Amino acid sequence: MITVAGVSKAFHTKGKSALVLDNVSFQVERGEIVTLLGKSGCGKSTLLNMVGGFLPPDNGTVLLDGKEVIRPTKRCVMLFQQRNLLPWRTVLKNVELGLEGEAMPAADKRERVMEALRLVGLDGHEHQFPHELSGGMQQRVAIARAFAIQPDVILMDEPFAALDTFNRYNLQDELIRIQTQKKTTILLVTHDIDEAVYLSDRVLIMSSHPGRIYNEMLIKQSKPRDRTHGDFHYYRKKILEEFELSGVQPMPEYSI
Ligand SMILES: Nc1ncnc2c1ncn2[C@@H]1O[C@H](COP(=O)(O)OP(=O)(O)OP(=O)(O)O)[C@@H](O)[C@H]1O
Ligand SMILES: [Mg+2]
Repeated sequence: MITVAGVSKAFHTKGKSALVLDNVSFQVERGEIVTLLGKSGCGKSTLLNMVGGFLPPDNGTVLLDGKEVIRPTKRCVMLFQQRNLLPWRTVLKNVELGLEGEAMPAADKRERVMEALRLVGLDGHEHQFPHELSGGMQQRVAIARAFAIQPDVILMDEPFAALDTFNRYNLQDELIRIQTQKKTTILLVTHDIDEAVYLSDRVLIMSSHPGRIYNEMLIKQSKPRDRTHGDFHYYRKKILEEFELSGVQPMPEYSI
């Protein structure tokens, strides 16, 4: 579904050039949830922006279903950490925003929006305004908007980072439930190891300065997962070791 092949990116500021991503390659299969996990500043958002067509790579290519990505499309939508809801529009109108410009009868649009709101458990709240909702509910609206578009791929940049633990866990559960139902391909960025283990089929571990994909871990546990299960801790420990090991034994080429 997604192919990233030999992608590099440098930023130039104050006359200096910094290589942020160096020769990054990976693939995401249709229906997979893949996570990019790495420390702050390793280039996760930059990489996600390139997959979404918001930023061109300096070298290499990004393909969506075999076609080169050169601009954002509705087949691949981005869900940001900030909820980006319009405060003057109701929940219903905020979700409908994703369908603006679609050649579709108004009644069908409304049905699509209501289905998405039901999916995230917000039916009954469609006429409320964002300020009348909790942070978790607002993030649900943003998730509903992404799914209402019925994209092939959803790109998520730390979508739950601003939420408290309870809300985060609940929304992670909902995401798994909806994704299992809809089979949407998801590429997620996080620095939360638990979130990566809980949600992903595969975790791509990134090193920093410059950002590279350093290792890949397959999470073979079936979903929904049990956060208290031994396997969950096994994967968590393995990922922690990945990060700690490089501190104990600095590698010549990589620093995480
Ligand atoms: N538009 C830009 N111009 C110059 N430098 C940039 C730009 N965008 C990102 N960078 C730099 O590129 C590096 C990677 O940034 P990026 O936002 O991709 O990191 P990240 O892994 O998403 O970090 P975080 O986990 O903190 O969100 C950082 O050093 C950042 O300062
Ligand atoms: Mg980021």
